[in-house]
Amino acid sequence: MMPKIFLIGFMGSGKSTIGKKLAKLMQLPFIDLDKEIEKKAKCSVSDIFKYLGEESFRKMESEVLKSFENETSFVMATGGGTPCYFDNLEYIHTQGKSIYIELDTKSIYYRLSKAKNIRPTIKEKKEAELLRFIEQTFEKRKHIYEQANYKVNGLTVDVKKVIELLES
Ligand code: S3P
Repeated sequence: MMPKIFLIGFMGSGKSTIGKKLAKLMQLPFIDLDKEIEKKAKCSVSDIFKYLGEESFRKMESEVLKSFENETSFVMATGGGTPCYFDNLEYIHTQGKSIYIELDTKSIYYRLSKAKNIRPTIKEKKEAELLRFIEQTFEKRKHIYEQANYKVNGLTVDVKKVIELLES
């Protein structure tokens, strides 16, 4: 049986887009962790950051991540910070397999500069500041993402190949 599959990687790497395609092809439910947090909090991720602060968001994120314990299998797109806080990555590995969607910082910058308003950690940042934030945050998180069971390139990823990888 296919285990639970968790997609990890930086904001804008394509976790949700790839996750949806993967889930469809594998005929598994797709879970978007940010959306589940929003459902539970009845509030957008942006507003959680704004009114409750990042610390509260990280606690909620960890709780919601762990609330799917009783599900059998699914594909989940986690948030960019999810594996980097508390014991979330260890937890993910007790539950199933992780796939790191790797993307270079220039491509991340290009994608995020067009879609930053929905992301509270970057929405106020101007161009040069955004690039610096991406590079610095990525540098801090890279070694955590690298601990994933599998790694695929976010620009060239082919979901059929991902399934072969999971089955090999
Ligand atoms: C975050 C990434 C976001 C969301 C929140 C914080 C981060 O998810 O969880 O804004 O710290 O990298 P996406 O990676 O889905 O944008």
